[in-house]
Amino acid sequence: MAKSRSVFRCSECGAASPKWAGRCPGCEAWNTLVEEIDRPAAVSVDAVPVEAAVPIAEVDAHEWVARPTGLSELDRVLGGGLVPGSVTLLGGEPGIGKSTLLLQVAAELASAGATVLYVSAEESRQQVKLRAERLGALPDGLWLASDTSVPGIIQQVESVSPHLLVVDSIQTVHHPDLSSAPGSVGQVRESAHRLLQVAKARGMATVLVGHVTKDGGLAGPRVLEHLVDTVLSFEGDRHHALRLLRAVKHRFGSTHDLGLFEMGGEGLAPVPDPSALFLGDRRPGTPGSVVVPTIEGFRPLLVELQSLVVPSNLPSPRRSAQGLDHGRLALLLAVLDRRAGLAALSGLDVHALAVGGVKVVEPGADLALALAVSSAVAERPLAADLVACGEVGLGGELRQVAQLDRRLAEASRLGFRRAVVPASAPPAPPGIELLRAFTVAEAIDLARARAASPTTISAAPQPPRPRALPTGRA
Ligand code: TYD
Ligand code: MG
Repeated sequence: MAKSRSVFRCSECGAASPKWAGRCPGCEAWNTLVEEIDRPAAVSVDAVPVEAAVPIAEVDAHEWVARPTGLSELDRVLGGGLVPGSVTLLGGEPGIGKSTLLLQVAAELASAGATVLYVSAEESRQQVKLRAERLGALPDGLWLASDTSVPGIIQQVESVSPHLLVVDSIQTVHHPDLSSAPGSVGQVRESAHRLLQVAKARGMATVLVGHVTKDGGLAGPRVLEHLVDTVLSFEGDRHHALRLLRAVKHRFGSTHDLGLFEMGGEGLAPVPDPSALFLGDRRPGTPGSVVVPTIEGFRPLLVELQSLVVPSNLPSPRRSAQGLDHGRLALLLAVLDRRAGLAALSGLDVHALAVGGVKVVEPGADLALALAVSSAVAERPLAADLVACGEVGLGGELRQVAQLDRRLAEASRLGFRRAVVPASAPPAPPGIELLRAFTVAEAIDLARARAASPTTISAAPQPPRPRALPTGRA
């Protein structure tokens, strides 16, 4: 095969240069040259077969039907499963569990009679086999390859004819026509582009793994987002077992649903009742603890927020936030100081935390965080059966949040009986009493008054027991 010529093209102005340079010779921008294969525009236009336009009613949409993968939480996020011929990018930090998830998917599909080719460019076939054995999955239809060149992978695809191709990861494969290193923007883009053409031509579902670092950087996944059909993001705190899977982009459905897994000794197990999991170790009656019903897409999640305050010996007291937005915490502390009379905060270190390794960054969690801080400052616990939900404005006013009914229904299901909400909130679902407040100061007073009433203590719900850890996969 004749080697194609490559050029370095500026991602800002499009100027081409035969050699890499730190600065674009055209627009003089720094670090914008990316290697690509030199395809003269006229030739490529001629080469593309033109499909005639058809009336929309005559388009056959049935070829784009999702096929279940056998992993319920993944299917939930994908709106049914993987679509033949589609290309999915699975992004996430190293070590989060991407390979584990895909090996489980591969094994499930292969056990159900499909042929799956798992290209592991990162680990040897022996390593993958050992992992598969640990996951209890060695079905016949699962093929392993460790080729790192794109033409090599395409050859394997032609000989195995898989229904699903997994490439783990796109940063470690390369196309020999380009001289840049694997993982560079040019290589990642070209490799993905070639695999995408094969996937579409064969009607083969394809999943590409892409590593992302904490700051979302590293050449790679970002440049592919517009190219692929679906972008999934696999997230979680490495020190906790919980993993969240969400669709950032999905051409075949909504991007609203959330998949939840728990990483255990036998790989990833679905988490059907996350709220119960999060609240399993809660100790009601601790100052600074408030539960917030958050919502992730369509899925309500009850999360405990905690705050601890201690006298500060620093000229500017510490504010630490884990699983919460730092800026949001600072803003709420300023509002509490000015609008709710919590002037003592200026001499206190404030620590705040979302329990369970989740990130709670929606403004709907403002009120719960404000109540947690005020409860910590007063060293008075709030009622154990209380949740709070609402956005706090700079004037101290409370604003409504989306899907309050779903959030409160979930709170009610788990035994919570009252909710502090903005005054304008819609009527409550059965089983839960609303404490309506116009301002954060009012909300603090209402919550405290309820905590002081003796009936509250007897009405405290039993915290949901943690589920037994699932041992098998769904
Ligand atoms: P891995 O899937 O290799 O992550 P990624 O492909 O995203 O880099 O798995 C990451 C971690 O998961 C690894 O450190 C070990 C752990 N793990 C388990 O806890 N249980 C298991 O059954 C498996 C296979 C892995
Ligand atoms: Mg991996």
